[in-house]
Amino acid sequence: MNPTCKKRLGAIRLETMKVVAQEEIAPAIFELVLEGEMVEAMRAGQFLHLRVPDDAHLLRRPISISSIDKVKKQCHLIYRIEGAGTAIFSTLSQGDTLDVMGPQGNGFDLSDLDEQSQVLLVGGGIGVPPLLEVAKELHARGVKVVTVLGFATKDAVILETELAQYGQVFVTTDDGSYGIKGNVSVVIKDLDNQFDAVYSCGAPGMMKYINQTFYNHPRAYLSLESRMACGMGACYACVLKVPESETVSQRVCEDGPVFRTGTVVL
Ligand SMILES: Cc1cc2nc3c(=O)[nH]c(=O)nc-3n(C[C@H](O)[C@H](O)[C@H](O)COP(=O)(O)OP(=O)(O)OC[C@H]3O[C@@H](n4cnc5c(N)ncnc54)[C@H](O)[C@@H]3O)c2cc1C
Ligand code: FES
Repeated sequence: MNPTCKKRLGAIRLETMKVVAQEEIAPAIFELVLEGEMVEAMRAGQFLHLRVPDDAHLLRRPISISSIDKVKKQCHLIYRIEGAGTAIFSTLSQGDTLDVMGPQGNGFDLSDLDEQSQVLLVGGGIGVPPLLEVAKELHARGVKVVTVLGFATKDAVILETELAQYGQVFVTTDDGSYGIKGNVSVVIKDLDNQFDAVYSCGAPGMMKYINQTFYNHPRAYLSLESRMACGMGACYACVLKVPESETVSQRVCEDGPVFRTGTVVL
């Protein structure tokens, strides 16, 4: 561990990570490869809180970890340009560095699944990236992985080929320009519902649908987003309500971003 590039603030880990590569993989969607010691601690479903390398932007930006290579000490992030912060990230290139806090959040629970198990992954748009590491790790254990992806249009389709290495993939597009016309529910309603676990990440509408459809499933998980400030559980900018409670709340950054269906109000 290089003490000059890393320091710990209590349980918070900060590191200056190296940009290994960056590529635009779809219009305004970038894949960024970072290298550093922090990779050793990363788990599927966690996120990195990235400092925008520009003093005008004080808040860090949360981006999910898409895949992890502990041998190379590299991780991949996939993000879409939304505003100034992500636009600045898109200008980074090989050899640049990035100030990273993480890995943050709880990640997906992948325990107790083996070659007897079958899981469903459901991803929408820029919510698809964190599911790639889930598929990779479960496939390596012999778990049967079925993936349903939803996108607005053909141009926005990402990671279909990568996920197809690990199991069957269905793609839907809202406008029918690629795959099956409609949203993911068109596919999911016809699937045999005997999945041992369900992992999902996507836009609020999709998360509501998964929450309702698998409300009482013991192992159905939603990876949720919210506007964040500190990203480490201190400011309560990212809270969600808990069903039937006026007093209890959950912080997306610290208690999540992954929640079991039925445990938060969407
Ligand atoms: C846990 C977590 C994981 C995320 N993972 C990814 C990822 O893997 N890839 C990716 O592209 N994006 C991801 N996001 C969303 C990403 O953080 C925002 O798009 C980013 O912070 C926008 O920053 P900006 O400076 O470019 O835009 P800003 O100028 O800050 O905002 C531009 C627009 O983006 C919206 N926005 C900003 N932050 C968020 C947010 N946190 N959630 C939803 N909308 C937001 C704003 O409302 C505004 O409309 C994630 C968010 C969270 C909370
Ligand atoms: S962003 Fe501060 S508590 Fe979640």
